[in-house]
Amino acid sequence: MDSSFFPRLPDVLLPWYALHRRDLPWRKDREAYHIWLSEIMLQQTRVEAVKGYYTRFLAALPTLEALARCNDDTLHKLWEGLGYYSRVKNLKKAAQVVLERHGGEFPRTYQEVLALPGIGPYTAGAICSIAFNLPTPAVDGNVLRVYSRLLDDDTPIDLPAQKQKVQEALAKIYPREAGDFTQALMELGATVCGPNRKPDCEACPCRDLCLGHLRGTAEGLPVKSPKKVRRQEDRTVFIFSCQGRYALQKRPKTGLLAGLWQFPNVSGHLSVEDALSQAESWGLQPKELRREVFRKHIFTHIQWDMKGIYLEVANFGGNFQWMTPYEIDTQAALPTAFRQFWEEEEHV
Ligand code: ADE
Repeated sequence: MDSSFFPRLPDVLLPWYALHRRDLPWRKDREAYHIWLSEIMLQQTRVEAVKGYYTRFLAALPTLEALARCNDDTLHKLWEGLGYYSRVKNLKKAAQVVLERHGGEFPRTYQEVLALPGIGPYTAGAICSIAFNLPTPAVDGNVLRVYSRLLDDDTPIDLPAQKQKVQEALAKIYPREAGDFTQALMELGATVCGPNRKPDCEACPCRDLCLGHLRGTAEGLPVKSPKKVRRQEDRTVFIFSCQGRYALQKRPKTGLLAGLWQFPNVSGHLSVEDALSQAESWGLQPKELRREVFRKHIFTHIQWDMKGIYLEVANFGGNFQWMTPYEIDTQAALPTAFRQFWEEEEHV
């Protein structure tokens, strides 16, 4: 048993992919704008969640030019609920760069694509191979897992050197059908050789050559380095209401959830007494404490444990925007962390 089968991987995967590929909206054509959008949406987000967003986004912004000229609130609205909002900001920035520096034509070399805002090696590899058939691997967690199992390689997949090694090994064996090979690898890693479960080796086209399968090690692969812990923060979130309007404010232009809307919030879990004082310090006159709930939100590096306080107040005070439910639903891009409090509010 050795790894000499590796160069033949495309011969095994391409016919399997032709038969088993899922019918996904971004596989209907190979237009660079479409492939790029789908790859950005698919970063850290499940295929099922992306499908509807992808279709809606392209219906609203059918061309790269429309994206470059789109206003930010519309853009945030199209992205709302997908999370990781810096993605959509970079998307617009990159569209503007394509218009200004590339005459509106999506660049066709790996280095130029990589230089666009929000595009890293994985996404550049995916776009160039899928849209332009270049031999540029797109190495993500799925592909790293497939590689580890195929080669029975127990190097931790979070090490940059491992990613580099896999990238180089794959680049050497890329076939002419580069886009299909990229997607075949993704597809294998997303389905039969999927994460967090036993691989379905019986259904795998590589079962007769996969070293992990042949040696019985596949299920224990890939190996990861021990995890760093997420920073935990307690916050108190205020859902202030007054005559059917709600207090919102824009977050700072930089940092976490930059420029998005939020309910006013402070660090720590305040007691009712302290919460009322906090409201007063913002110039509000508390009228009725309606509800308290606890909710969690997990970002990449931080976990927020939030105490939500629903408080009816007597005046439109504070340095807030007092919005109607309609305005909140149609104009304010409210990130999921805060939206969950809104969804539980019984407004009409
Ligand atoms: N995950 C990342 N890119 C993908 C793609 N093009 N198709 C399916 N899943 C993906």
